[in-house]
Amino acid sequence: MIESKKDYIHLETKAFSAGNLDTLRIDTKDWNVLFDKSLKYSYLTLNDKMMVTELPFRFEPMALKSIINYEATEKAKTYIANKTFKNKSLHRMIKSHFFSIDQNAYALAQLSNYFKAVGKSNRNVTKEKAHGFGEMAQIVYEIINSNIESHVEGEVFEFGCFTGIGTAKLSIASNFIGKKLYTFDSFQGLPGEHYFEGEQKTIYCEKDYCASKDLVERNIALHGIPDDVVLIEGYFSNSLETFFKKNEDIKIAACFIDVDIAKSIDECLDFVIPRLSPGSILAMHEYNDQDNFKTLQKHNLFNSELYEIYTVNHNGDISEDLNSNLYGCGILRKK
Ligand SMILES: C[S@@+](CC[C@H](N)C(=O)[O-])C[C@H]1O[C@@H](n2cnc3c(N)ncnc32)[C@H](O)[C@@H]1O
Repeated sequence: MIESKKDYIHLETKAFSAGNLDTLRIDTKDWNVLFDKSLKYSYLTLNDKMMVTELPFRFEPMALKSIINYEATEKAKTYIANKTFKNKSLHRMIKSHFFSIDQNAYALAQLSNYFKAVGKSNRNVTKEKAHGFGEMAQIVYEIINSNIESHVEGEVFEFGCFTGIGTAKLSIASNFIGKKLYTFDSFQGLPGEHYFEGEQKTIYCEKDYCASKDLVERNIALHGIPDDVVLIEGYFSNSLETFFKKNEDIKIAACFIDVDIAKSIDECLDFVIPRLSPGSILAMHEYNDQDNFKTLQKHNLFNSELYEIYTVNHNGDISEDLNSNLYGCGILRKK
């Protein structure tokens, strides 16, 4: 099992990236792998047996490079965590750090897929994350830059985490503003089809976006700041009531809902809306999805007297157009 970032890094990577070596070696607890310079063949050692394998897909040089750049990510993370920058460079800092996270996550997912393809792992990861690089940077920027830290009561919440790359990013934001991050997911993917509305029936399937709690924990440890992250496992129909009964007075200072389907969104909003503090941020991934319109309207989420609202696309471009599918993610601030 891969335990820490150190598992991924081997000193030789530096020499390889500098062009001084013909091979790149990556060691983990269970396996080590040696790539030749063409990036076409790998020499995989498992249980002391060496196999020479032609890679089953093009292993992006970019992905390898990002493993090599892992130290840069670490530096950026420390930089953000220590708040050692002037405010105006915050946005740039978040974006460049998230770029490294995404590159590393992509590389590691490629590696996992590779091991699955050669029959050496049954970890089921085909995609490393399901959010756009820019939209998550914008959400985190809003959370960090909105004076939530001192003025808004409550903690940070996330509903729907898939592999936990977004959770890692949110953990950096929640750590920055000194709040806890509570993340809810089934860790079994989407619930059954009776949860889907309209076109969602043709887009989604039961168990889509399934990733294990173990993988999420590792991703938060690798890419984020795990100290104050609490993962709550289970379908929302059970987990939310249990959690909020135990934490009756808890308030929400910031929240990201990315659960795709109308009924899941509805279940989350039933608990979230009454707990949003004035000044809190609510980010909704499927804000402009027609099939979720009725649900969002029921919860008053298009009401500009209650919220300041704008939308953002995958690249992080911002729009005031609340009906454009291209700008799918809504960012709302409660007045
Ligand atoms: C699109 S994925 C989340 C993507 C993630 N935020 C990211 O940026 O990569 C949707 C997630 O919502 C979870 N989910 C949806 N409906 C759920 C429900 N009713 N109960 C628990 N989890 C649910 C799924 O397990 C899945 O992890």
